[in-house]
Amino acid sequence: MASRAFLITIIVAAAAAAPAFAMDYMVGDSDGWKLGVNYTTWAEGKQFYVGDTLMFMYNNASHNVLKVAGPDFQSCNISNAIGSPYTSGKDTFTLAAPGKKWYICGFGSHCSQGMKLVINVNAEGPAPAPGPTSAAGEATPFKSFVWMVVAATAAFSIIMS
Ligand code: CU
Repeated sequence: MASRAFLITIIVAAAAAAPAFAMDYMVGDSDGWKLGVNYTTWAEGKQFYVGDTLMFMYNNASHNVLKVAGPDFQSCNISNAIGSPYTSGKDTFTLAAPGKKWYICGFGSHCSQGMKLVINVNAEGPAPAPGPTSAAGEATPFKSFVWMVVAATAAFSIIMS
């Protein structure tokens, strides 16, 4: 009986940990990245976390993706993009750091017509200690936490069975 309880505990613990794993979002869902979609509405109510990904799907003859800073997002200024424009038609961004991220389309007046997306990325799990921390270093405490929960519940179920 003990081994069966142990297996069930592992499955339950894994399932409980699953919602904390990274999410992949397709911007605009089935509409993708185009004119006539309200991306403020799309982002509303979604909780983005470090490690999640954003995928922009679009016709690259008519659209692209520029990462910009807040003021350039507000004014739809396309001349200060952070890095090169993304033009593949299928661009994926991994949300590597917490904070606000701004994306606009650089074609014509598409940005002022609504092809603009701002999201707020939340830090995953407990806030990291102040000071320089690598992105890889931040993920480790969360993983050990999951394994601690798995080990503790497994031990508990063996004792109880
Ligand atoms: Cu566009």
